[in-house]
Amino acid sequence: QGPLLMVSQNLDDVVELGRGPGSGRKVKLSIKSFRVSRRQVLGGLAGAVAVGAFRQGFAAIPSPALVLRPSPGRSMLADSGEPTAVWSYGDTVPGPLIRVRQGERVNVRLENGLSQPTSVHWHGIRIENSMDGVAGMTQDPVPPGGEFDYSFVVPDAGTYWYHPHFRSWEQLARGLYGVLIVDEADPPKVDHDLVFCADDWRLTKNNQIDAQSFGQLHDWAHAGRLGNWLTVNGQTDMEYSARPGARVRLRMLNVANARILAFNLGSLPARVVAIDGQPIVSPAEPGNRLILAPGQRADVILDLPGPGPGTYVIQEVSGAEPIEAARIVTQGVAVAAPRPVLDAVALLPNPVPGNFELEDAVVVPLRMEGGAMGRMEGATYKGAYYGIRDLVGKNQAWAFNGVAGLPEKPLASVTRGRTVVVDMINDTRWPHAMHLHGHHFRVIARNGKAISGTPWRDTELVDAGERVRIAFVADNPGKWVFHCHMLEHQAAGMITWLEVDDG
Ligand code: C2O
Ligand code: CU
Repeated sequence: QGPLLMVSQNLDDVVELGRGPGSGRKVKLSIKSFRVSRRQVLGGLAGAVAVGAFRQGFAAIPSPALVLRPSPGRSMLADSGEPTAVWSYGDTVPGPLIRVRQGERVNVRLENGLSQPTSVHWHGIRIENSMDGVAGMTQDPVPPGGEFDYSFVVPDAGTYWYHPHFRSWEQLARGLYGVLIVDEADPPKVDHDLVFCADDWRLTKNNQIDAQSFGQLHDWAHAGRLGNWLTVNGQTDMEYSARPGARVRLRMLNVANARILAFNLGSLPARVVAIDGQPIVSPAEPGNRLILAPGQRADVILDLPGPGPGTYVIQEVSGAEPIEAARIVTQGVAVAAPRPVLDAVALLPNPVPGNFELEDAVVVPLRMEGGAMGRMEGATYKGAYYGIRDLVGKNQAWAFNGVAGLPEKPLASVTRGRTVVVDMINDTRWPHAMHLHGHHFRVIARNGKAISGTPWRDTELVDAGERVRIAFVADNPGKWVFHCHMLEHQAAGMITWLEVDDG
C-alpha cells in the first residue's frame, strides 16, 4: 500500500491524501496529508435499534419526537489512537438517521448543547420557509441552552441531510450533520439500503480537530478548508455486509466543508437513479468517477456478484491515486430471487414543478468574483464599499454582483409561480458548489449552449470560468438563501438571497 497521494483540485495548494496505519505503518501527518486507514466498528446509538435492512452502522429514528441535541462529544474517527473531540447530534457522527415516508411530517426539537448559537437546516427539502433553519434570515440563532421546534412536511422522496446554518464552516467541520431519508411510497426492491455519508476532517497528530485552522483567510480565499482524513459514516474504514448477489441502494452524500469528492464503484453493474434526492429520468451508469461536490448526493442502485462471497471496494479517486473509502463484503446465503433488469429500475418523479415559462422568466444575472488569483478590486460589504485589502481584513474574499456577504436587499424578488433563471458566471479561478434553498432547479444552459433533460438539483458545481444558467419555478414563498456550499466561501462572501412573494 503506497503511503500517499496528492489531491490538487486547488491551484497553488497541494493537499495529500494518505493511506494510514492499516498497513501497520505510521503515516506522516501534516495538515496536508489525508489519512485513510483501517476499519472501525461504530456502535449503534444507545438504546436505539438498527433497522435490519440498514447496515450502515447507525440507527434510524422514526419521526416524530426526535430531539437533536448538538453538544460536545467524542468519536472514534481514526482507526487507532485517541478518539476525536467532536460536536455531534447525540452520540454519533453522523447524527441520528432520520427516516420518514414521503408526505409525512417531521417533528424535531433542537436543544442547543453547544457553547455557541446554532440552527438546523434541512438540506434539499422543499420546506416551509419558517422551518428552513437559516439563522439570521428565517429564524433567530438558537442560543446555548435554547430550543427550537422544527415541524415540516417532506414533499419529495429521496436522500437529504441536515446541518447547522450558523457558523457552518466550523459547526459542520466539527461533526454536526446527519442524514434524512424520505422513502418513496413504493420504493424499488433492494436487498440492502445503505448510507454512504462522506466527509473529510482536518485532524492533528493526536486525531484532534485542527481548531487553529478555523477561520484562516488562506483557506477561505482558496479552495476552502480541506481535510486530511476521510470518513464514511464517521468511520475510517467503513465496511458494509451484504448477501452475495444482492441488489443494493447506496445513498451517497458529500458533507465535506469544501472538498469535491469523486468515487469509483468498480466494475459492478450500477445505475445512478437519483441526484440531490430527485429521481433522474433515465438512470445512467456512474462511470469510474462519480463526482460529488459539497452538499450533493447520488443514489446508486448496484448489483453485487454472487453466489460466492466477495469484497467490493469503493474508492475515492479525486487525487492522483485512488484510496479506499469503504467496502462491501458479501457472505452468507446468496440472494436468488429473480428481479427486474437494472435498466428497468427507475424511481417515480417527485412533484417538483417543471412548467417553465422561459419566455416570461425573471432572468437574474449572478457574477461570482474574488478569491485567490482573482481580479476583484473591491466589493460592497454590509452597505459600504471596500477595496480588496480592507475587504480581506474583514475576512471577505468573494462577491456576487459586487456584494460580499448577505445583502440587505434580495438578489431578486419575484411573485410566486414565476419562472426564475439565474445566469451564473464564475469569474473566479475556483469551482463553486452553488446551493439554492427551498427549490430544486435544472441547468438549462452551460457556456452558452442550451441543454435539456438535466436532473433536478439543489446544488450545482460551477467550474472556474464557466457560465451556467439554471431555471426553477419559484413556487415556495419566503426568503431563500443561495450560496456556495464550500462553507468557507460562503462565510467569506458567497451568499445572497431571493425573495418569493406570495402575491
Ligand atoms: Cu446545506 Cu444553505 O445549506
Ligand atoms: Cu465556492
